[in-house]
Amino acid sequence: MSNDDVFKKLISHAKEYGFVFQSSEIYDGLSAVYDYGQFGAELKKNIKEYWWKSMVQFHENIVGIDAAIFMHPTTWKASGHVDAFNDPLIDNKDSKKRYRADVLVEDYLAKIEGKIEKEVKKAAKRFGDSFDREQFISTNPRVLGYKEKMETISKRLFGSLEKNDLSDVKALIEELEIACPISGSKNWTDVRQFNLMFSTQMGSLSEGSNQIFLRPETAQGIFANYLNVQKTGRMKVPFGIAQIGKAFRNEIVARQFIFRMREFEQMEMQFFVRPGEEMKWYDYWKEQRMKWHLSLGIPAEKYRWHDHEKLAHYANAACDIEFDFPFGFKELEGIHSRTDFDLSAHQKFSGKKLQYFDPELNESYVPYVVETSIGLDRTFLAVLSHAYNEEKLEGGAERVVLNIPPVLAPVKAAILPLLAKDGLPEKAREIMDELKYQFYCYYEEKDSIGKRYRRQDAIGTPFCITVDHDTLKDNTVTIRHRDTMKQERVQISSLIEIIGEKIKVSL
Ligand code: GAP
Repeated sequence: MSNDDVFKKLISHAKEYGFVFQSSEIYDGLSAVYDYGQFGAELKKNIKEYWWKSMVQFHENIVGIDAAIFMHPTTWKASGHVDAFNDPLIDNKDSKKRYRADVLVEDYLAKIEGKIEKEVKKAAKRFGDSFDREQFISTNPRVLGYKEKMETISKRLFGSLEKNDLSDVKALIEELEIACPISGSKNWTDVRQFNLMFSTQMGSLSEGSNQIFLRPETAQGIFANYLNVQKTGRMKVPFGIAQIGKAFRNEIVARQFIFRMREFEQMEMQFFVRPGEEMKWYDYWKEQRMKWHLSLGIPAEKYRWHDHEKLAHYANAACDIEFDFPFGFKELEGIHSRTDFDLSAHQKFSGKKLQYFDPELNESYVPYVVETSIGLDRTFLAVLSHAYNEEKLEGGAERVVLNIPPVLAPVKAAILPLLAKDGLPEKAREIMDELKYQFYCYYEEKDSIGKRYRRQDAIGTPFCITVDHDTLKDNTVTIRHRDTMKQERVQISSLIEIIGEKIKVSL
């Protein structure tokens, strides 16, 4: 099955089983906006909790806040978003389709990377066990040629974007003979900048202007509250402020399901440090964040690092953790050394001092910031796409199973009476009543037990607890494990411990 097919199946599975719906579907949907259904909302909540626990609960020097989406409009002037939060756009005159000019070039680069992979695969087949990938990539003339070409194109693209030389970006697209994927034509408009912030009107503002913005990142709510939290929490540098919340961007290339949305959620943490110590903390947080991802049990080869060549207006170092989505490796989380850019800018624009008095150094300074910023929806997609598996079973049957890490699974345990009679439902309800205060459980008595197991597999429930006639005699049940389908007989009294052990946050 091609990756495209897998992705299509995943999207329809997400809809069929109540994970993700297109927003306003009854009105034919709203582009790049999605709703989470009954199991999707649970999975999302569990991801948030896993992140919040690891950041806030497990770090004495990190606290969490919940700032408003609307902020004073000067916030976005100070942060640079009014002037610099732009994408370079280009339109194809024949298809009338709009693209991000840099993405067109990056897609072109991805095609060259695909050619390198083809060469590698061919060589691996030819050389068998003695094949050394690293050596091949660093010596094969054809691969070296491709790599050099990629480097030249990247340098030119990032150089032109850095200088805001949009006519050179267009020239590059034309020189590479990039065609519109829809019309196949190379008839392009000029490239121009487009601001990604959504704006709306607010009743009354003192300045007379009533245009406000929907925040494009949660980070600014943290910066604006930095002093409030530092003072009221008596926080000492280094310390962090974490937040989970909605962000909004008028994305032009809105595709790939919940990967690029116009309304999405971020989980961000700003870590305030002494000036000059930011690179130490940047490395520290890179290591911590990768550990967090790996703690979910998803294999290391699904992740890779990507250092930014073109730095955002606020950063002096930045990298991404990329995930191998069904459509290839793409950004999942960003780790940025933001210097004192934001706090200094807010200090200048607000006229309020945002300094910290360091008692050990006996001096005041504007702290530097290292940020970790992860998309909640992208984490959801990463978890779901890795979890989705179609398995062939003994005897030729098939099952679709979501091998979601148990700690994140929407439903932890399904309570299933073998038959809907003989007192089994009543006993099952008793167990449900005991367990439901510990974890999210699901009770079901309709259809054969096999069908019920399949339905639970399809939503990723790690444990099915079956109540049968023996249960009434000896207070034991069968517990079925989702991944292995193995079943064991256990005491009802041990269920909380068995399940609790498997779903605890262990970092
Ligand atoms: N405060 C820094 C910041 O916002 P970013 O790299 O623009 O940095 C951080 O965004 C993360 O937010 C990304 O790594 C991605 O996971 C998520 N994200 C950004 N734009 C998104 C979108 N349109 N849809 C879904 N997630 C998005």
